[in-house]
Amino acid sequence: MTEARVICTSAELATLLEGGPPVRRPEPQRVLMCTPDFFDVVDVKNAFMEGNIGSVDRVKARAQWEALGCTFEAAGHEVLAIPGVQGCEDMVFTANQVLPGMGDDGRPYVVLSRMRHPSRRNEIPFFRDWFEANGYRILEVPESVPYFEGQGDAIWHPGKRMLWGGYGQRTSVVAYEAISAMLDTPVVALELVHPSFYHLDTAFCALSNDAVLLFPGAFSKEGMKLIRRGFERVLEVSEHEATKGFACNAHALDGRTVIIQRGSPEAVARLTGAGFEVVEVETGEFIKSGGSVFCMKMMIY
Ligand code: ARG
Repeated sequence: MTEARVICTSAELATLLEGGPPVRRPEPQRVLMCTPDFFDVVDVKNAFMEGNIGSVDRVKARAQWEALGCTFEAAGHEVLAIPGVQGCEDMVFTANQVLPGMGDDGRPYVVLSRMRHPSRRNEIPFFRDWFEANGYRILEVPESVPYFEGQGDAIWHPGKRMLWGGYGQRTSVVAYEAISAMLDTPVVALELVHPSFYHLDTAFCALSNDAVLLFPGAFSKEGMKLIRRGFERVLEVSEHEATKGFACNAHALDGRTVIIQRGSPEAVARLTGAGFEVVEVETGEFIKSGGSVFCMKMMIY
């Protein structure tokens, strides 16, 4: 355990970033998904799920899920799948159950999540077993942490040993004290102030070491200041494209190619204008549950 470094003001972040070259972090190259056999909307855990109970078309969902996997494969990434489990209707959102990282000893680890919704807590043992079987060290947040929802809220700064940590809805801010100390990693804490944007990944997509795509309305004033300190280029998404198009829940591969839900022309124009290659996909069945590209996969070592 080291001392926790949870950064809450842009002045603190400036000091951190001025304190010498950032510690490098290797990017994970493999993709973990979960088969959508039992994917469904059975209750309302977030604003996007409203009105969608029982409306999932499983055949369509399967086709969209397969196509997303093929998109990652076409970009040169190995895709692995953990089998979905009956009764775990949200398990397909593999960004949420853990936070993966690389240990200083060269062995990868995962920090297990403590999901806010009891129904989602049932997913965790299946991920624990999978990561254990695949050689990962298993870490847990202390009992005193009420909630922590993995990579849905804790997002690595591309290439850097620094985390951006969303809190206030699915993750408690105290989780980051524990995670920062456990992983010897600074965490920049971002309060999520808009009720619809319940996970950091619904409003914030780290594109590369110096660029981020985001919906500003999801963050406090200080939060936006922190983000502008951390990234030279901030590409803003409109409220319409962030909610209707789910545009911020995109994934940037190797700081070059951005995979994004189709239907957000302004965001696409901004991305291409900034030099990114954009691949548009269809994840409409999953948006009924409040998740898209970023949520449907976990990048692992
Ligand atoms: N229905 C799921 C929930 O509300 C969606 C999770 C989407 N995942 C994400 N990383 N945003 O928990």
